[in-house]
Amino acid sequence: MAILVTGGAGYIGSHTLIELYKAGLESVVYDNLSNASKESLKRVAQIIGQEITFVEGDIRNKEQLRELFSNYSIDGVIHFAGLKAVAESVQKPLEYYDNNVVGTLRLLEVMGEFDCKSIIFSSSATVYGEPNKMPIREEFPTGNGITNPYGRSKYMIEEILKDLSKSDSSWKIVILRYFNPIGAHESGLIGEDPNGIPNNLMPYISQVAIGKLNELQVFGDDYPTVDGTGVRDYIHVVDLANAHVKALEYLQKQTVMPEPLIVNVGRGQGYSVLELIRAFEKVSGVKVPYRIVGRREGDVAISYADATLAKKKLDWVARYDIEKMCADSWNWQKKNPNGYETS
Ligand SMILES: NC(=O)c1ccc[n+]([C@@H]2O[C@H](COP(=O)([O-])OP(=O)(O)OC[C@H]3O[C@@H](n4cnc5c(N)ncnc54)[C@H](O)[C@@H]3O)[C@@H](O)[C@H]2O)c1
Repeated sequence: MAILVTGGAGYIGSHTLIELYKAGLESVVYDNLSNASKESLKRVAQIIGQEITFVEGDIRNKEQLRELFSNYSIDGVIHFAGLKAVAESVQKPLEYYDNNVVGTLRLLEVMGEFDCKSIIFSSSATVYGEPNKMPIREEFPTGNGITNPYGRSKYMIEEILKDLSKSDSSWKIVILRYFNPIGAHESGLIGEDPNGIPNNLMPYISQVAIGKLNELQVFGDDYPTVDGTGVRDYIHVVDLANAHVKALEYLQKQTVMPEPLIVNVGRGQGYSVLELIRAFEKVSGVKVPYRIVGRREGDVAISYADATLAKKKLDWVARYDIEKMCADSWNWQKKNPNGYETS
């Protein structure tokens, strides 16, 4: 029996393959390589000393999915596949809804056909919109004030999963709402490899540090936060990967689930942009030039998780602090200045 990992060649997926291996679980990766290359899987194989089973395909293609489920005995699915660039989703809403929402529908339909009814879904803290209280708890309302199609696609999929669960309690579903994954595997062999100019802060910082970009733009220093810059809950990608193994263990113990288990995956602690820059400079010994510019549309001032439910339900806690996250991001960047292209 194996775990199907959709989007397993990507940033979070590739790190999760290592945690699955460490937990003694077989995995099958299904990815259309739209935002990844097979190199990440070769590197994972190098780390674990074992080949990764890979099938190239798209989650929107039911025939390909049927073939996949016919060829492998799939016990459960970790569903990472999706598009994730917030700004791009505003430009290309239909592409995002098609890929993320329609793709998930097709996947769920085929899972149902093959009576494979366990799934862990990669959701995001963006589903909370702009909550007026911190820390963010799972029962806070979702769906209001989401500023982009990417976030709305995650919200829609969550609603679909809740309806599915209501219709048939033999579906076992965990929805993980990620906060801000950064960092890399400590080998420096795998990490986040954005296409072009990074959308996220940490890859931006590390590309400025390595000299690929001149300076970091900090969007707004007039937020009601410790130093005026935006505050986020950063989580080491290896900790996040490990949360998936814990979620699988949880699913294995359930016989029926009347509703999905929805869990925040964050550290429960917020860091401002300037605090993250300082932590990075401290561990790397490299200065990161930055310039304050205006606020970016759609950004919230503060977002950090209440992470107690993850501990209670999944027996999961984050192990790595902000310095380890910065050190591992920098290690990956230094060893791979051009991402996976270097080899
Ligand atoms: N990285 C973050 O900050 C973050 C935060 C919250 C949620 N998430 C979610 O976690 C998941 C994984 O994120 P990531 O950072 O690893 O992204 P990623 O882009 O590195 O990985 C996603 C993978 O899915 C593949 N993919 C995309 N569309 C596909 C399709 N139609 N069929 C098959 N494969 C497809 C891509 O090629 C890529 O390898 C995504 O669903 C993302 O929305 C990410």
